[in-house]
Amino acid sequence: MFIRRRKSWEIRESQATAEGVLLSRRAVVAGAGAAAGAVAIGFGLARPDEVAADTPDPTASLYPAKRSEAFKLDRDITPEKANLNWNNFYEYGETKTVASAAQSLKVRPWTVKIDGMVEKEREVGIDDLIKAMPVEERLYRHRCVEAWGMAIPWTGFPFKAFLDFAKPLSSAKYVQMETFNNPRMAPGQRLPYYPWPYVEGLTMEEAANELAFLVTGAYGKPLAKQFGAPLRLAVPWKYGFKSIKSVVRVSFTDKRPVGMWEKIQASEYGFWANVNPEVPHPRWSQAMEDVLGTYDRRPTLLFNGYGEHVAGLYKDLQSERLYA
Ligand code: MTE
Repeated sequence: MFIRRRKSWEIRESQATAEGVLLSRRAVVAGAGAAAGAVAIGFGLARPDEVAADTPDPTASLYPAKRSEAFKLDRDITPEKANLNWNNFYEYGETKTVASAAQSLKVRPWTVKIDGMVEKEREVGIDDLIKAMPVEERLYRHRCVEAWGMAIPWTGFPFKAFLDFAKPLSSAKYVQMETFNNPRMAPGQRLPYYPWPYVEGLTMEEAANELAFLVTGAYGKPLAKQFGAPLRLAVPWKYGFKSIKSVVRVSFTDKRPVGMWEKIQASEYGFWANVNPEVPHPRWSQAMEDVLGTYDRRPTLLFNGYGEHVAGLYKDLQSERLYA
């Protein structure tokens, strides 16, 4: 994410494309393995005594899960190695090479709090939740607001199944999700200019849409830490910052959630954030995207190509800022 701070590294609109190409080249290098084991610059790992080892993952036998045939890709799956070494996870640093630092994330035991406008507030263990859900694999595209894209085999369960489990009240209009907040485990959270924890939200209709997916695995395995283990969101018709990682709390509310990026820079990162090639980011074009792990550039698609599933959600909302 590029945020508008008046610092020396701030890019001008004219530089955005060049930076996107540069990022993609680095991703190719990552794919070749050169970036494996890279450490996020400026962020040391937590000391071993600060982060106890994970307890074993009792859901490991669920992977690989059966692939759904309902969601087709228009491109190859991004090589796993490229994806594992090119991440946005600001809790572990402001660069793309956070893979090593993110190994400090402790993902078991892990609980998810369900609260707000629900029949009964509760806290559920991640493994009890996963075992109660219809787990499947889906091939999804992902489009970052920074104008790069990837294609990934996620494993997880439909958000709709989670809604049936959580039992929100009919008065709930939005679902707000929150990432953990633990600066001892995540050095990025010591940076004072981010309003931690990371927060994101959807309308109830969006969360109930067949495409909204809660992710527990990728590439036929439990989720790697840098992908946002043990539970992240995938809403592939929206810019990637909506797909919050390492969720610890899901709240139902009648107030529109304000995401972390919206708090920092509302004019650039809004609530809806639907992908649209014709609506540029205030500082760069969204018309094209760099394909992670390759030298390809492709035209961006409206709703990232998922219009048949989601365009209907927005037909009565044309006065909203739907594409930022
Ligand atoms: N969630 C948290 N908690 N922290 C983050 O920094 N980055 C977002 C999103 N979810 C982010 C997050 C952004 S900007 C993108 S593009 C995707 O995660 C990146 O997901 P990936 O690293 O799996 O490609």
